[in-house]
Amino acid sequence: MNDNIPVFEVLPQHIGFIMDGNGRWAKMRGLERSEGHKAGAKTFRRIVEYCADVGIKHVTFYAFSTENWSRPEKEVKALMKLFKEYLLEADEREKENDIRQSRIRFIGEREGLPKDLLRLIEKAEKVSNKYSKITVNVALNYGGRAELTHAVKEIAKKVKNGEMSVDDISEDVIGDYIYTAGQPDPDIIVRPSGEYRLSNFLTWQSAYSEFWFSDILWPDFTEKDVNDILFDYQKRNRRFGGV
Ligand code: IPE
Ligand code: IPE
Ligand code: MG
Repeated sequence: MNDNIPVFEVLPQHIGFIMDGNGRWAKMRGLERSEGHKAGAKTFRRIVEYCADVGIKHVTFYAFSTENWSRPEKEVKALMKLFKEYLLEADEREKENDIRQSRIRFIGEREGLPKDLLRLIEKAEKVSNKYSKITVNVALNYGGRAELTHAVKEIAKKVKNGEMSVDDISEDVIGDYIYTAGQPDPDIIVRPSGEYRLSNFLTWQSAYSEFWFSDILWPDFTEKDVNDILFDYQKRNRRFGGV
């Protein structure tokens, strides 16, 4: 447990992190891109733990987009290997009764993922389901448009077989069919690496999110950056269309 946590007046319930900049981080050091991803995975572990310690209840980390399949096969393979390693490690930690008690959820398209990875994902979700300190959503093979397409198809099926009428479809109902159903929308979305875009992240959920951009490359992201985000967040005036 981290005992240097500042006192925050108000905390976001949910933070979204776009873990970007691994490749550039590696390139700057003359390393392979996969080394950047390894460093990024370490940062991910640290930031999850810190968010849990601070008392954030939901975090979503963008790990692999539906568009990232267009990368060279070698890089995609290295990423899949890292995801597997993380899940195997989570399994070990579970046996040691990990103090941070995170509930792990994978959001994204399951179809297209390697079978062994899928098995580990299902196991991690099942085993960690009893925890409630923090929910860690890992967006893997995730795309906001794919998520909405999936939701539309599921709703259409219900309408077709008479379980739902067209008039029953509401924003709340759509919210029930997206992958983060039951969780609050992200209060703030963090994008490091100097890019100012969402890249298909949490399309539905981000309707009223705050944004925090920075030039830091994800592997260099620290607990202090999380503090900066939280201090910044508590100054924001969220009006949701009101006055
Ligand atoms: C983010 O880092 C990780 C994934 C998209 C999987 P990048 O690999 O996109 O890093 P840059 O943007 O090339 O620096
Ligand atoms: C977004 O980063 C996806 C993840 C961090 C997993 P990208 O590097 O893929 O985004 P673009 O291509 O710069 O928009
Ligand atoms: Mg990138």
